[in-house]
Amino acid sequence: MSDFALKRTGVESIDIQHEALFDLICILTDDVTQTDNAVSSLNEYVKFHFSYEESLMLPASYEHYTQHLKAHERFAAEMPRLTKQLMEETSIENKIEILDSMRKYLIDWLDNHINKTDAELFSNPSQFTPTR
Ligand SMILES: [Fe+2]
Ligand SMILES: [Fe+2]
Repeated sequence: MSDFALKRTGVESIDIQHEALFDLICILTDDVTQTDNAVSSLNEYVKFHFSYEESLMLPASYEHYTQHLKAHERFAAEMPRLTKQLMEETSIENKIEILDSMRKYLIDWLDNHINKTDAELFSNPSQFTPTR
């Protein structure tokens, strides 16, 4: 995570939320006694963020509207799957392994979704509603 840089979109409310997501991902350490709460908070925050972000998109002028919603849906299906695996696992070793896959998945999502798809959406003011 140390060499990862989160791209700012320039839309303040979105950047604040992306930073909060990044912070929630950073606290997913190998200390499996602490992770259940951290993962739940992350999942809750993601739901809030997706619906906020989707409410700003302008379907008539944002060309990638459908793909963007689908990307959110894919994420919203994969995270509960990994979360369920993690919660149901009893072996500490296996929990650490699941957490590792989860972190890799999340970093990839930050890199490919937030830093590319979201950055592209908010780079063009005709594609979203201004927040103020
Ligand atoms: Fe986003
Ligand atoms: Fe997004």
